[in-house]
Amino acid sequence: MDTISEIKQKIDIVDLVGSYVSLKKAGRNYKGLCPFHSENTPSFMVSPELQIFKCFGCGEAGDIFKFVQKIEGVEFSTALEQLAQKAGVKLEKRDYDPESSKRKQLYHINSLTARYYHYILTKHPQGKKGLEYLTQKRKLKPETIEFFQLGYAPDTWDSLLKFLKKQNIHENEMLDAGVITERSSGGGYIDKFRGRIIFPFKGIDGKIVGFNGRTIFDREPKYLNTTETAIFHKGSFLFNLANAKVDIKKEGAVIVEGQMDVITAYQAGIKNVIASSGTALAESQFKLLQRYTNDLTFCLDSDTAGVNAVYRAVEIAEKLGFNIKVAIIPPAYKDLDEIIKDSPSKAKKVIKDAVDVYDFYISSTLKANSKESALGKKLILETLVPIFSKIRNPVIIDHYSKILAAELNLSEDTINTMFKAGSANSYAESIPDENDKTPLLSRDNPEGYFLALLFKSDIDTMRKYAYKMDVEDFTNPIVVNIFQLLASYLKENRKSFNIKQIIKRAEEGYGDNISELYLWDFDGIIDFESPQILEREIESVFKRIKRDSAKRSVKVLTEQIKVAELEKNWDLVLKLTKKVEKLKKLFL
Ligand code: CTP
Ligand code: MN
Repeated sequence: MDTISEIKQKIDIVDLVGSYVSLKKAGRNYKGLCPFHSENTPSFMVSPELQIFKCFGCGEAGDIFKFVQKIEGVEFSTALEQLAQKAGVKLEKRDYDPESSKRKQLYHINSLTARYYHYILTKHPQGKKGLEYLTQKRKLKPETIEFFQLGYAPDTWDSLLKFLKKQNIHENEMLDAGVITERSSGGGYIDKFRGRIIFPFKGIDGKIVGFNGRTIFDREPKYLNTTETAIFHKGSFLFNLANAKVDIKKEGAVIVEGQMDVITAYQAGIKNVIASSGTALAESQFKLLQRYTNDLTFCLDSDTAGVNAVYRAVEIAEKLGFNIKVAIIPPAYKDLDEIIKDSPSKAKKVIKDAVDVYDFYISSTLKANSKESALGKKLILETLVPIFSKIRNPVIIDHYSKILAAELNLSEDTINTMFKAGSANSYAESIPDENDKTPLLSRDNPEGYFLALLFKSDIDTMRKYAYKMDVEDFTNPIVVNIFQLLASYLKENRKSFNIKQIIKRAEEGYGDNISELYLWDFDGIIDFESPQILEREIESVFKRIKRDSAKRSVKVLTEQIKVAELEKNWDLVLKLTKKVEKLKKLFL
């Protein structure tokens, strides 16, 4: 174990802070008057579970080292010395640069892990099933398996753990590298990947930063990847960029969703392919790519999730000035991998025939709606106007105004004006702004408040409300993300709630939001230590969110009713009216 973790294990943050500040228990946390700013009512929280402090008044937050740095006014190295002494831990020279030595060790563990799994796959009888899967079902050649250093994690509990132990790796370090996890029944550790094909994730310098494993037994989840570690950040990682960077410089990048698409493309001789590994691409990923190219071709799965991913990603890529094309997967196939299996030359043609992203928007929207009816036209414009209104270049705007005017049989001026104004009608404005800036930790933001209240309640209450609430009821993207995480955690039939587990699974950046919500004390306004009071408050916030969500739906439905009336589509009017009535009865 590294020195930092050793010190953290020996010093409890509650004791440490308690020697400076008088703390009182508040639910699962402790609270007191903040030592870093002057206040009369306590807003300084300490969590024994997370071993962190946070002041909701001045915003100071951190672990034991940060606390000592702040309160003693010293540098990290001094805080380290002080705390090491207090804990009775001997400091070694390398500890003065703890970050880099820790990262080195993680790379070391990853490299051992990759070699181990690769050996099992290619040389050991235990890897036979994995090898059969790759060579027969996925049609990979031995050279391809070699090139990507693919591996197989046997379907046993702890074979990697035992192997790494023999290499003198401590369990805590394995845990930090994300290759083992805590047994869910509590007590002891098990390998993270079991019965899975292993895809090592190589960082841009070629070193292994993490792993992804695909089940060969049809288990859930289909793919499992390393959670955030000190060296792996999903949001800034692109699969195969390390291998493909030279080809990408020459030919631009083709972006696909899955590792298997990349690997079979490589085998078929298409080498400038990278994968987003299933998530919507983030700005940091594009910035990384921009070091190598400005030309992107999105080649995403033909399902709707794939199309939506294009919409989100393009918005970011546009802003950064990429030239964007979309390769359209023919409806008979799911993804690039399937086309390649059928015919590599067909796959190459699909990529070569990629269309400009705006043509793609127009063709996919026209496909999804009938342009013959008034309602169809309205829906088409409602989809396209917000997209085209973001384009700054007047030449491009004019070009597409012409095309769309011809398609919809409307005047070019009308379309051009709409594109410039950025609104198809009032309906577009009635949709809540996704980037609503009410701070998460404000009682004016019922969504964040709702999550914070849930975190204070017992697991059965959490389950009850997680079940009653729909993710669509939320508008704040952070809340949506955390709620989904919480809901899936609660589905796992656990007996007790462990906030650390949730934070561990959170995507980059969200971990802080979660610990803030967890620590939030609501300025002592409600007494959450009484389960009855707590649940009453949850129920009332729950209703408020449901009511707001119902109001938004009613607004949208009312617009749709107006259109249906114009079209004299009385069946639809009736259907929509019933929906409105039902919502009003239930929530308004
Ligand atoms: N993915 C993930 N977790 C999941 C599902 C998918 O991380 N539970 C990521 C993986 O990186 C995967 C990518 O999303 O490669 C695309 O997922 P999907 O389209 O479901 O799978 P395919 O790549 O088509 O996988 P396969 O061909 O092996 O079925
Ligand atoms: Mn696939």
